[in-house]
Amino acid sequence: MIESRKSDHVKICLDEDVEVEKNYWNDIKFYHQAAPEIDFEDISLGVDFLGKRLSAPIIIAGMTGGYEGAEVLNRRLAETAEEMRVGLGVGSQRAALEDKDLRKSYELISDHSIPLLFGNIGAPQLISQDEEQPFGISKGKEALEMIDGDYLAVHFNYLQEAVQPEGDMKSKGVTKALKDLSKEVPIIAKETGAGISPGTAMSFRDAGVEAIDVGGMGGTSFSGVEHYRIDDENKKMKDIAKDLWDWGIPTPVSVVECRGRVSLPIIATGGIRSGIQIAKALALGADAVGIAGGLLPAIEKSKKTAIDYLKRLKRELKITMFLLGCEDLDDLMSVNRVITGELKDWIE
Ligand SMILES: Cc1cc2nc3c(=O)[nH]c(=O)nc-3n(C[C@H](O)[C@H](O)[C@H](O)COP(=O)(O)O)c2cc1C
Repeated sequence: MIESRKSDHVKICLDEDVEVEKNYWNDIKFYHQAAPEIDFEDISLGVDFLGKRLSAPIIIAGMTGGYEGAEVLNRRLAETAEEMRVGLGVGSQRAALEDKDLRKSYELISDHSIPLLFGNIGAPQLISQDEEQPFGISKGKEALEMIDGDYLAVHFNYLQEAVQPEGDMKSKGVTKALKDLSKEVPIIAKETGAGISPGTAMSFRDAGVEAIDVGGMGGTSFSGVEHYRIDDENKKMKDIAKDLWDWGIPTPVSVVECRGRVSLPIIATGGIRSGIQIAKALALGADAVGIAGGLLPAIEKSKKTAIDYLKRLKRELKITMFLLGCEDLDDLMSVNRVITGELKDWIE
């Protein structure tokens, strides 16, 4: 059941348009510098992030694993992250934690030298849903050991759960469970496309997480994905999923507001599709970006296509920095930017 859900998600994201209507990164503008007074070749994208050296502040966000067919994708993802020296998050390891036969697509990742690697479990599994035993510290450790990972991403996907006919809707005690887990396992708290509010970021910080991936609204809509996954007979849930398609806090809003409240490292995932958008995320206060939906069609084609996609993003980020007169990411983080349109209303 869970394994078929994961393969459905990949298939739907490849076959259907599941982006939200508005990409809020477009509401941020930069001041062009006609005389940048730097040389393009001197620009450096390298960054130390979460104790690891990356060639650019890019993480391939958690997408997949744990079903037949996922091995090919995960091997390509691992090879791409290894060759490009960027971070990688795996998709939810829930199925593999429940059934040892489904581990192969995760275990193969540890054959690769990936500079920064995140495991992944769902926050709803930290507490008891129905009769199920919650995932505790031992399962958290097991997930990281399965891939030889550096941090365990705990995803908060209650929007997605809420629009699923079979969704896990219990949330009482989830932050306490996160706190218990983070005493023993290094945790990144992540959303999956609906964003993290500053209040939630503060309670995650108090729970002891090492970083926050705001996973905001603006790219892949998981309500949209579920809309396509729900049977046509279940018109009521299908319609609800459609109504909640654009639910959430836009990624740039989540970045600005969380940055203002917590000093933890912040990953901006949600709607990052270009190098200019990476520059915008860093200029707003993110330390790195995460990319999922934008990379998926490339990774489905081949490792080469995925590498070309990431090379394009890096080249575009470098060009943006050149035109802003920024030699490194510290310069970029303090560059002038203008917030316009609907994004301005949100932030004000
Ligand atoms: C096919 C697909 C599967 C995903 N599966 C997971 C998952 O298992 N765990 C998770 O934390 N996030 C998952 N995500 C969410 C992404 O990590 C990311 O937060 C979200 O898609 C927003 O980023 P994007 O706009 O770049 O796609 C998935 C995304 C996609 C596209």
